[in-house]
Amino acid sequence: MEILELMRWRYATKSFDPDKKVTSDDIEFLKKAIQLTPSSYGLQPYKVKIIDDAQTKEKLLPASYNQRQITEASHIFVFCNLTEISDDYLEHFYRLKAKIQGKNFDDLLPHMNNVKRFLEGLSQEKLMEYTALQTYMALETLLIAAPERRIDTCAIGGFVPSKYNEILELNDKKLNACVVAAVGYRSPEDRNQFLPKVRIPMDELFF
Ligand SMILES: Cc1cc2nc3c(=O)[nH]c(=O)nc-3n(C[C@H](O)[C@H](O)[C@H](O)COP(=O)(O)O)c2cc1C
Repeated sequence: MEILELMRWRYATKSFDPDKKVTSDDIEFLKKAIQLTPSSYGLQPYKVKIIDDAQTKEKLLPASYNQRQITEASHIFVFCNLTEISDDYLEHFYRLKAKIQGKNFDDLLPHMNNVKRFLEGLSQEKLMEYTALQTYMALETLLIAAPERRIDTCAIGGFVPSKYNEILELNDKKLNACVVAAVGYRSPEDRNQFLPKVRIPMDELFF
């Protein structure tokens, strides 16, 4: 299928088949797609927690306004934005870049320092906004990549981040639960799959 067909095939799955599990091979495929997501300066200021154990899903259910995708889906991807981008993080990133691209770390220092100055100019609130925006791009990659393997997803913004942070012990890791995705296979009974897509008409969307 072509990308537009795949995008029509996908829908926000409300009811997953709880007996169908995504294979580890397919999870690796999704992870690779997410890893390739572009980001501002390439910093990828997020981490993704993947949950497939029933106990943790049960804990997350009430923190997700009891949306049953959380317990029915095979895997839950919690996209966490960084709550700070430390000097260590930046150095680690630029050392990685130097290594991968065969450059001298010292030659990258001016660029790194520019990025550092940009980040230092952001308030904590703006930094959180900045890292959250990048995190949403990673979510989008998942939503677009999954149909390639006929895997269903539902993006979930309806949850309480502070509760997720507590349950998954994210605060200590300087992470914040930003957005979630349920990943699995649609239940044949999910009526939403048969509904036509509602999208703003082209002549309204583009100008
Ligand atoms: C960031 C984001 C958050 C969303 N949060 C929820 C949610 O909490 N629960 C839910 O059932 N659907 C959620 N959705 C799904 C949207 O309602 C759905 O994508 C939209 O209505 C378009 O329908 P479609 O994805 O089926 O084409 C979310 C989608 C996005 C992108």
